[in-house]
Amino acid sequence: MPLIRETIVITTDREGRAHIAPLGLIAEGDDWIIAPFRPSSTLDNLMAVPFATASHTDDVRVFAGCLTGRYDWPTVAAEEVPVPRLVGALSHAELAVVETKDDAQRPHLRCRVVRLVTHTPFMGFNRAQAAVLEAAILVSRLHMLPRDKIEWEMAYLYTAVEKTAGPREREAWDWLADKVRAHFQA
Ligand SMILES: Cc1cc2nc3c(=O)[nH]c(=O)nc-3n(C[C@H](O)[C@H](O)[C@H](O)COP(=O)(O)O)c2cc1C
Repeated sequence: MPLIRETIVITTDREGRAHIAPLGLIAEGDDWIIAPFRPSSTLDNLMAVPFATASHTDDVRVFAGCLTGRYDWPTVAAEEVPVPRLVGALSHAELAVVETKDDAQRPHLRCRVVRLVTHTPFMGFNRAQAAVLEAAILVSRLHMLPRDKIEWEMAYLYTAVEKTAGPREREAWDWLADKVRAHFQA
């Protein structure tokens, strides 16, 4: 399996409206593959405007927020591509699509890094951040995973949140846990 880096990808449509989505970028040499499952606004945008930014952030509320309808994260213009990046990014990459492999389910868009910038020091790992990322993945698959698997994994992940979370991780966790509860109550 290749290395996959979990990032916040921003793309724009032809009118310049930004779209934000957590996506795992797949390493391929010095390039990164964006692989959106259809249907996808990220894919539609990249077919129209073949540029993206990948923001690297330890504020896991952005990941949890995008999976729970909270898309309003501050952005600022990038320098080399016509797409914004997260204001709160520790670092970000500016990406240009150089090759598209179409697929009925999951096209692969190979991106070249045209600029990579560091903004803020990375302050180390936190287990609750990893737990929130895993919970966000579970929430993105609520429609296809069995209830007992989701509830068991959420209970397991919560131990790291309970023991190590700061306020941002706790808030992100609560958004995701509420979404899981609402899904199974519906
Ligand atoms: C950490 C993380 C990684 C994800 N990686 C992918 C991915 O590689 N491809 C994908 O289609 N969705 C991925 N998702 C789910 C998308 O964020 C979500 O489905 C989103 O709405 C994408 O659809 P859009 O392009 O229409 O916004 C990921 C979610 C999380 C939390």
